[in-house]
Amino acid sequence: MKIALIGYGNLGKAIAKCLSRKHEIIATKRNLDVKAKSKRIEITNNNAYAVKNAECVIIAVKPKDISPVLDEIKDYVENKLVISFVAFVSLKEIKSKINARVVRAMGNIGIELGKSFVAYYTENGEDEKVLSLLSLMGKVYKAENEREIDLMTVFSGSAPAFVARLIDAFVLAGLKHGLNAELSKELALSIFNTTAELLKCETTESLIKRIATPGGTTIEGLMEMEKHRVVHGIASSIGKAVEKIFKKE
Ligand SMILES: NC(=O)c1ccc[n+]([C@@H]2O[C@H](COP(=O)([O-])OP(=O)(O)OC[C@H]3O[C@@H](n4cnc5c(N)ncnc54)[C@H](OP(=O)(O)O)[C@@H]3O)[C@@H](O)[C@H]2O)c1
Repeated sequence: MKIALIGYGNLGKAIAKCLSRKHEIIATKRNLDVKAKSKRIEITNNNAYAVKNAECVIIAVKPKDISPVLDEIKDYVENKLVISFVAFVSLKEIKSKINARVVRAMGNIGIELGKSFVAYYTENGEDEKVLSLLSLMGKVYKAENEREIDLMTVFSGSAPAFVARLIDAFVLAGLKHGLNAELSKELALSIFNTTAELLKCETTESLIKRIATPGGTTIEGLMEMEKHRVVHGIASSIGKAVEKIFKKE
């Protein structure tokens, strides 16, 4: 299938990388200052041309840039599937400008690996095409309302940046205690992956109980985490990002 991808920036490139494994992409950006990394990706600055020649449209521009994009494509999208990854812009706002089968979606940069958490919301019925495209990007979740999609801007979109900082903390601690940088990073990545796998089948409390023996090293570290209110600090940092979503309303 030919897909028009409006916005070939950080997220757009991840989407193109993912979908070009199976589909042909006509990606657009204003400045033609990058080259496509695959023969299945064509890059142009002509939104109308991209949409006219595609069966489906994906929008990945910044919120401030969506309005002129919708004006440019409105004559060519009638009844086509349009998936918007644009943060904060509601279905109502999009549908007030175009007559199309609009779906809102939100994921993260892990889309390039096909490993994002991708949420979508639509007021249309089930659409096989939506599921088949989004499932190439990772784990798909059908949101119950648009507010969940707004929350996903932080809990899926921003989250890899937060986790990257946590991984940094593990790497720094390793370095401080004499592990070399490469080993320290390899260890941190392995620990995050393994913990995520283990937690698929047990609660955090049960996992911690199996590791923290009385009077041992783990409980020493956990007590120090309590002292520094690490959990509170992380939850409150994520909370700040969430506040920013709803300030935009
Ligand atoms: N980055 C992430 O990890 C992430 C995660 C989840 C959601 N999102 C959402 O994805 C959207 C894009 O974010 P981003 O980080 O990818 O932004 P970005 O890197 O700034 O990319 C935006 C792209 O849109 C293009 N663009 C702007 N106006 C256009 C127009 N009229 N026609 C065609 N292309 C146009 C820009 O082209 P030029 O380069 O030529 O200006 C640029 O390539 C945002 O709504 C954001 O909230 C991003």
